[in-house]
Amino acid sequence: MPRIMEITNVTEFEEIAKEKLPKMIYDYYASGAEDQWSLKENRNAFSRILFRPRILVDVSEIDLTTTVLGFKISMPIMVAPTAMQKMAHPEGEYATARASAAAGTIMTLSSWATSSVEEVASTGPGIRFFQLYVYKDRNIVIQLVRRAERAGFKAIALTVDTPRLGRREADIKNRFTLPSHLTLKNFESLNLGNLDKTNDSGLAAYVAGQVDRSLNWKDVKWLQTITSLPILVKGVLTAEDTRIAIQSGAAGIIVSNHGARQLDYVPATIMALEEVVKAAQGRIPVFLDGGVRRGTDVFKALALGASGVFIGRPVVFSLAADGEAGVRKALQILRDEFELTMALSGCRSLKEITRDHVMTEWDHPRVAPRL
Ligand code: FNR
Repeated sequence: MPRIMEITNVTEFEEIAKEKLPKMIYDYYASGAEDQWSLKENRNAFSRILFRPRILVDVSEIDLTTTVLGFKISMPIMVAPTAMQKMAHPEGEYATARASAAAGTIMTLSSWATSSVEEVASTGPGIRFFQLYVYKDRNIVIQLVRRAERAGFKAIALTVDTPRLGRREADIKNRFTLPSHLTLKNFESLNLGNLDKTNDSGLAAYVAGQVDRSLNWKDVKWLQTITSLPILVKGVLTAEDTRIAIQSGAAGIIVSNHGARQLDYVPATIMALEEVVKAAQGRIPVFLDGGVRRGTDVFKALALGASGVFIGRPVVFSLAADGEAGVRKALQILRDEFELTMALSGCRSLKEITRDHVMTEWDHPRVAPRL
């Protein structure tokens, strides 16, 4: 097992986390749905995309900065919402918020965080988005969105791939539940902060009880009547839904398969990205999450048209390994790797990263004559 000091890539945090965490918690963070085909494919698909680097470009100065929904950030690598971070480390979302702010990037806070929107805001300045699960009781949603607005959150990431929870078999076997000293802090005052112990995944039972399965495109419009915050639709995988998202007023799209935890046998997000980018026609920004573990992955996503990426498991595993310092290190490693990838591909700024800097299996006919 690598020691923290010896870590040279973000994947290595997982081994340390596995060693440190109780099995029920590690399994909750690590698992995907059912056969976990999409979980493996999220990684494998990146490895099938290759570079077409340009040489002899002066790369003595490289600019990684970008703007997301009008907010300037230090790099196109952001933090995805992952639930219940205090199971990983006592400082949980506080540590993630501080590390993200220190890295100059955006943190997305999960609805199911073990720290409230107000608590996360109290950690100090930082650009933060709030991930929303829509509950059957819409008064809860209205209150929660108000609280996020008041706490200074800048956008809503509306998760649309979870009308029911995917079958994560490890959680079922472990009878997953939240450790008794923790609550879903945003819902504590509503008496919805606890997961019951069941013969199933405690989270699956909670979702079945609280989350609105009837959620549909009309609700995306409804959400705009209760908030002026921009809405990112998180969980789009097709051109068809991209077009409806734009018609429904989305400010951006996150191509996501929920870290392969929902529907198994959906394609890797990097495989779905270009279809979505083409359908979006530059009208709204498209982001990606799922399997991003290397700076080269970030570059590939940008070359295929993403405006930025989000990372999920690397944050929870680095948090488990070393708290705030761990998350800072994970973000720094990805930043350094991405900067190096840009230098070695001949790109000095994000706008210089083009489709021609990568080759995929589906554009083989286009690239082959040049090989
Ligand atoms: C998630 N994800 C997630 N998404 C969401 O919208 N709300 C949530 O509360 C959670 N919680 C959550 C917990 C854990 C442990 C994981 C691993 C994932 C999905 C997350 O936002 C993101 O889509 C994926 O994590 C991205 O894939 P990688 O980076 O984990 O491969």
